[in-house]
Amino acid sequence: MSRLPAEVHLKRAIDELALMTGDSAGAERNIAQSFRLLIALEALGVGRIAGGTMNICGKLSAVPLLDPPNDEILEIGTLYGMFGAALIRMMERAGRDPSLTIVGPLAGLELQPGTTERDDLTGAPVRGAAVRTNLALAGTAGAAARIQQGFSEDAEVRAPVSDRSYGVIIIDGDHSAPGGIVVLDDFGHPKWPGIKEAYEKHMATDTRLTFLGQVANSGCLRADAKSRDASG
Ligand SMILES: C[S@@+](CC[C@H](N)C(=O)[O-])C[C@H]1O[C@@H](n2cnc3c(N)ncnc32)[C@H](O)[C@@H]1O
Repeated sequence: MSRLPAEVHLKRAIDELALMTGDSAGAERNIAQSFRLLIALEALGVGRIAGGTMNICGKLSAVPLLDPPNDEILEIGTLYGMFGAALIRMMERAGRDPSLTIVGPLAGLELQPGTTERDDLTGAPVRGAAVRTNLALAGTAGAAARIQQGFSEDAEVRAPVSDRSYGVIIIDGDHSAPGGIVVLDDFGHPKWPGIKEAYEKHMATDTRLTFLGQVANSGCLRADAKSRDASG
């Protein structure tokens, strides 16, 4: 799969990001930097980052520009740990000191309900060693990342990672930090209609999440401070 973006997609991602953050110069800079980072990490690392080029760059660029309330990051569903490594680097570029916790089954291949299980197209097994190798590419903060193996719905997986308030949660489900940024991956993607359906269902409730905007297939929301309930 080519990582080269068409000019029109590049421009659209920058425009969407500028609209969402109000920072045109930052949007252009971060999209350029995250694109180079994506190419570099996939060239040096084991495996890949999941998703299309602009979708990945949108997430990586948006989070530091949205100025999360703290540097604790939780990624639920990590594949090779490479997205987490990239997010660490983007946060550091914004002068932050990211601390990453990741949750994933690390079961040899990508487990995604509704899809056929098959070896990854990179040929690399999804396992802890690959995640560690990729996190090491993000220096000291990468090496210090916490890896919680298992499924996010399992109590024994949730308990150890529920020990802090996260400023950034990359998920398809729960979110609990006041002011925290929630990035919904594959938002509006025709292949995964359930994500937008779940979003619409949730937004019809008395939610404390506010929709900020969309960059490529990443929808960004912010949790407000009046904590009604910790579940999303
Ligand atoms: C599409 S990949 C995204 C990986 C990563 N965020 C990235 O950008 O490269 C989704 C990952 O979530 C994992 N996964 C699926 N169900 C999960 C669950 N219930 N809890 C945690 N991880 C899960 C899959 O095995 C897969 O590695």
